[in-house]
Amino acid sequence: MSLFRTKSIESLVRDGQQKSKLKRALNAWDLTLLGIGAIIGTGIFVLTGTGALKSGPALPLSFIIAGIACVFTALAYAEFASTVPVSGSAYTYSYATLGEIVAWIIGWDLVLEYLFAVSSVSVGWSGYFQHLLSGFGIQLPTALTAAPKAIPGVKTIFNLPAFIIVMIITFLLARGVTTSKRVNNIMVIIKVFVIFLFIAVAMWYVKPVHWQPFTPFGFNGVVAAAATVFFAYVGFDAVASAAEETKNPKRDLPRGLLYSLLICTALYVIVSAIMTGVVPFQQFEKNLSHPVSLVLDVAGQNWVAGFIDIGAIMGMTTVLLVMLYGQTRIFYSMSRDGLLPKLFSNVHPTYRTPFGATWVLGTIAAFAGALIPLDKLSELVNIGTLFAFTLVCIGVIVLRYTRPDLPRAFRCPGVPFIPLAGAGICIYLMLNLQALTWQVFFIWLAIGLVIYFTYSRRNASINKEEQVQAKEGA
Ligand code: ALA
Repeated sequence: MSLFRTKSIESLVRDGQQKSKLKRALNAWDLTLLGIGAIIGTGIFVLTGTGALKSGPALPLSFIIAGIACVFTALAYAEFASTVPVSGSAYTYSYATLGEIVAWIIGWDLVLEYLFAVSSVSVGWSGYFQHLLSGFGIQLPTALTAAPKAIPGVKTIFNLPAFIIVMIITFLLARGVTTSKRVNNIMVIIKVFVIFLFIAVAMWYVKPVHWQPFTPFGFNGVVAAAATVFFAYVGFDAVASAAEETKNPKRDLPRGLLYSLLICTALYVIVSAIMTGVVPFQQFEKNLSHPVSLVLDVAGQNWVAGFIDIGAIMGMTTVLLVMLYGQTRIFYSMSRDGLLPKLFSNVHPTYRTPFGATWVLGTIAAFAGALIPLDKLSELVNIGTLFAFTLVCIGVIVLRYTRPDLPRAFRCPGVPFIPLAGAGICIYLMLNLQALTWQVFFIWLAIGLVIYFTYSRRNASINKEEQVQAKEGA
């Protein structure tokens, strides 16, 4: 039983036959909207404040650095997705190419990305929801507004709105409700519209003097902020998982990935420049859960805050749906391959969804969002995602050498340099995360390896294929 045994691409396609019946309906434009739906959320609406405290006015530069890491990785993702033409994430691609142990590590690591992204975004959602309620004069009991120790000097116990929204999303997904193309597109348009509204209103209050000095904490500060706001890009890999539903994946998949990333980067750069231009960056300390309203307060344009709250709440809701959906489907694939218990691939007879898995995962995400502060959660998401991206970048290079024969509908340009640069920036950003984040990350990986060696390896469905092959060979 080799640690690096691979699943044949043919058997992956066979296992995924159910999914292969999906209609090829998406074009580059749909993929771009799908990407923006998954990308824009808590990162820009909430974490900009935290980022600005680290970088100062150079925050747009931090967004550009994180964006470059993502564009390079997206090219690697596009090659992977077009080489292993089965919907699924980096987990599935690596099982077919890099071997079981790598696939397991990526799959286990993606929990940090997808599941904790749900928790993180629920905290952002809660902040905007509470702000909207306060506009109507409704105030929740302080204890129920945030996780313990989330706000210095304030006694908070449980983030109730964050908990409730994740449970509602879980309920919807368990019932088989996913955002249809149309609903997603409408929500994306509203989300982008409120960002434009913010830009159009706030840009007139920029005082260039606030941009001086541009990098008060030097390049280190800029990179530290890049490691934080990287979160704002998390989710673009969801586009790659739509490979099987794309009309012309060779042309449209890389375009969808790149267009959505470029549009988001442009929006992030403009918004962050305006935010730090209106408000002296040190002041973001005052309102880290809702930095946009601080900007509007300072500009004296509070009337738009309500619109932005509604757009942000809708925008974050699409992110929640996509990320929780993604998490259940990754565990579904891992369970179908025998690496996780059957619970995660049992499909409900009526709703035809991984019902039990959705409830288990949704409940965990809801409690994490209610009990862990956003800065801790979002760092975990970042380390998990950056690690997965690093492996994808390296994986593409390895695959060029080990399996040059595989047909590749899309080839990442500049191999090995672009993927190497992608991996390099990802690692550099990881090194800028807190020590605590690294500790939790290692503990998480260690738990994963224990599960792999005690359960997954023995129960892998590939064992049966190997036995059949051995018999046939005998
Ligand atoms: N990129 C997503 C967000 O910012 C996860 O909410």
